[in-house]
Amino acid sequence: MIVAKNIHKIYKQSPADLHVLNGVSLNIDAGEVMAIVGPSGAGKSTLLHILGGLDKPSKGNVSIDSDDVYRMNENARAGIRNKKIGFVFQFYHLLPEFTALENVILPGMISSDGFEEEDLKRKGRQLLGRVGLKNRENHRPNELSGGEQQRVAIARALINEPKIIFCDEPTGNLDSESGKGVINLLMEFNANFNQTLVIVTHDEGIASRSSRVVHIRDGAIV
Ligand SMILES: Nc1ncnc2c1ncn2[C@@H]1O[C@H](COP(=O)(O)OP(=O)(O)OP(=O)(O)O)[C@@H](O)[C@H]1O
Ligand SMILES: [Mg+2]
Repeated sequence: MIVAKNIHKIYKQSPADLHVLNGVSLNIDAGEVMAIVGPSGAGKSTLLHILGGLDKPSKGNVSIDSDDVYRMNENARAGIRNKKIGFVFQFYHLLPEFTALENVILPGMISSDGFEEEDLKRKGRQLLGRVGLKNRENHRPNELSGGEQQRVAIARALINEPKIIFCDEPTGNLDSESGKGVINLLMEFNANFNQTLVIVTHDEGIASRSSRVVHIRDGAIV
């Protein structure tokens, strides 16, 4: 489903360019649960953004369902991201002026599938309930704890029932109980809808429940 070939990411700087990714190739099958692990600074987030159509590689290509993601125009790429991909960012990226519920349903409002706002809200509330935030739907991000913001971001990634979910340390800010709840939810989506999960994590519990663990060190798979 996702094919990444010879991905390089180079930041131009002096005195020497910074090679963050050095020729990463990966095939990810539909329905697979893949964990990406490695030390801080290894290039995990960079790789995840590139796989998810968010950051153009310096060299190499990514295809999703056989579409070459970086050869299409920005509009087409945004369409694929909205339809097929859910992304949980390491630093959440919630919109500060919107409530938790509004943040969650936003990808649904943008999608051209014509969901009714009331249906989306119902679904959004359900997802917020599933991540334990039933009583926080009208809070804005700055009125939520870090772990609560993380859970809003997870609900947002699920609202369009995307085929692929990329999560960047989705339990990084959660206690073990809430972390387990989030992982159970993601695994449930994987089991019920054959959703593909690609998860950057330091969490042994996630790695042990994945079908494959990929180790990244200094911008390469080891
Ligand atoms: N825009 C940028 N310009 C220059 N260097 C960058 C940029 N973005 C990331 N880097 C560098 O690329 C390297 C990899 O960053 P990345 O965020 O992918 O690491 P990571 O493996 O996700 O680490 P962590 O576990 O700490 O989240 C880091 O050393 C970082 O400083
Ligand atoms: Mg990171």
